[in-house]
Amino acid sequence: MLHGDVIDAIGHTPLVRLRLGADTGVRVYAKLELQNLFGMKDRVGKQAILHARATGELADGAPIVESSSGTMALGVALVGSALGHPVHIVTDPRIDPVTLAKLRALGCAVHVVPAMTANGWQSARLEALDTLMRDLPGAFCPRQYSNPQNPLAYRALAAELLTDLPDGFDALVGAVGSGGSLCGSSRALRESLPDLRVVGVDCVGSALFGQPDRPERLQSGLGNSLLPPNLDHTLIDEVHWLNDHEAFHAAGDLASQQQIFAGNTSGSVYRVLCHLAATAAPGTRVVGIFPDRGDRYHSTVYAPEFWAHHGLSGLARQAEPTQVPLGTTVDAWSWCSRADVPQGVR
Ligand SMILES: Cc1ncc(COP(=O)(O)O)c(C=O)c1O
Repeated sequence: MLHGDVIDAIGHTPLVRLRLGADTGVRVYAKLELQNLFGMKDRVGKQAILHARATGELADGAPIVESSSGTMALGVALVGSALGHPVHIVTDPRIDPVTLAKLRALGCAVHVVPAMTANGWQSARLEALDTLMRDLPGAFCPRQYSNPQNPLAYRALAAELLTDLPDGFDALVGAVGSGGSLCGSSRALRESLPDLRVVGVDCVGSALFGQPDRPERLQSGLGNSLLPPNLDHTLIDEVHWLNDHEAFHAAGDLASQQQIFAGNTSGSVYRVLCHLAATAAPGTRVVGIFPDRGDRYHSTVYAPEFWAHHGLSGLARQAEPTQVPLGTTVDAWSWCSRADVPQGVR
């Protein structure tokens, strides 16, 4: 497929049928967002930056500033630098070396905050971001947690799914961090597929769906200590929580069983897809979103030393999820249905 530049090449990701559900008559597909140049949030970088340029919020050559340690930083770096903007990324010492190397190679200024402030690393990063915004006149910040352009970026993903599966499908499974990808794609998909079942995947110790926040959780990408405005609970029919052991183990299974070497959020999505493949009615068609590749997790998710250091194997690992009512604090794979998910909680 020929593209005029790297920005045009964003999206158009493959949809791959997984070897799951043949015995139950369930068809399961993986939307390989990890096949983007960097990852799923290349789409958000493109949408947010092109929109800001179109509205005049971002002038030619003006700086872009974002706080992120992962896929969003890379998406902003990709699109911002391709369009000739200086890109400043604020992060903290927990950033993985692969992402750091990529950001520096693209020519970004990477600002690593040296110490936590009153509310941990999050507040330290936000303070550094505010300082940069003050010091760089005309700077634009994409603010993925609240910018409506984040969910809007996934209208294109929804359109690709409808092109690849013209007869539609029944369920969409996605990890939730800012809420942009799952809420944006399901909002767009429901215009054509009103009965689509939307399944969110979160981690044990994340506040997104009412669990007590445990900042020591090891999974990255999904989960949050705060409720982002881009998460619209009313779109989500059920939510699954996996603990760190279950998520990392699932990423290993995804690699060994499907030959897809991906990050822990894809692992958790895969685990939920396996469950649906085994339990959904014959004929059900399910799509899961796989956000990023596994390379940057080589010394965490895929490293036995990391597992041993954090005692991961000592945590429970459930073969199937337990259904719980909302408000139950969970330590291992559990799920809660729509009736119990807080509606419209912001
Ligand atoms: C690897 C990965 N997976 C999943 C997500 C969750 O996506 P969203 O922020 O759209 O909810 C993120 C978000 O940063 C991510 O980096």
